[in-house]
Amino acid sequence: MIKQAIIPLAGLGTRLLPLTSVFAKELLPINGKPGVEYIIDECIQAGIKEIIFVISRKKNIIKKYFNNDVFYKKIIKKKKDQRIINEYNKIKKFKKMIKFVYQNKPLGTGDAVLKTKKYIKNNFFLMLLPDDLIIKKNCSKDMIAIFKKHKCSVMASMKVDKKSVNRWGIFSKKKNINKFNFLIKDVVEKPNINNAPSNNAVIGRYILTKNIFSKLKNQKKGKGGEIHITDSIKKLLQDGHKIIGHNFRGKYLDCGTMDGYIKSSLDISKL
Ligand code: UTP
Repeated sequence: MIKQAIIPLAGLGTRLLPLTSVFAKELLPINGKPGVEYIIDECIQAGIKEIIFVISRKKNIIKKYFNNDVFYKKIIKKKKDQRIINEYNKIKKFKKMIKFVYQNKPLGTGDAVLKTKKYIKNNFFLMLLPDDLIIKKNCSKDMIAIFKKHKCSVMASMKVDKKSVNRWGIFSKKKNINKFNFLIKDVVEKPNINNAPSNNAVIGRYILTKNIFSKLKNQKKGKGGEIHITDSIKKLLQDGHKIIGHNFRGKYLDCGTMDGYIKSSLDISKL
């Protein structure tokens, strides 16, 4: 069963400066709603019951956003505004599901996931990178269905421009299962354009086995001096773990870059 999701939110968000100099990028509005709420909605619709937020002290504003009861109660008492009541009820519902874990030094996504180790109950969990929005189709729900059938790790994938492979984790395929799914042979973080095994990129939705934690514990820094989750996934593959790549059917929005962030609001407003 996949009942828990991890969302790493402790990064610096430098590509969105100056917006992120005093504010958490995951709370930035995308068409009037904080980006992270799209991710929470995706989790809930996929049947997730508990979400573990990895934040840092510098990003305590995220915790505050979900724990601002005194403020809401005061305003609601004064204004009795139904829209505010509905928003507060939604936030209360989210708050009940969220557990906060700290990663005060942004050493990388792998290190962020490692911080959640003691809270993961089942053998498999979902992990979502909040910069990667997928609209029109619930990618997590589809991946959980694949997990139920194959009982193995699953990672979202998308073909990217061959000239941009050095920005992504890139898969090599073992074999196709069907039109949307394939067995992964290897994964490499940000390869050179000349020796990239393909242009099938890793997108931020993962169903991972708990065994990843033992790999993460010993994981050395990789590209850019960061501890990447993909480097530990590579080790799982070397140990013979079965991992399926899923070419998701929704539309991908990259909210981690300024151009992508601006475009994501426009795309969502057209839905
Ligand atoms: P990114 O590396 O894409 O984002 O991490 P970033 O580091 O926040 O932003 P840039 O590159 O400086 O612009 C993907 C996700 O993983 C989280 C980030 O918050 C983001 O949601 N993350 C990243 C962590 O939780 N911890 C880290 O050490 C690194």
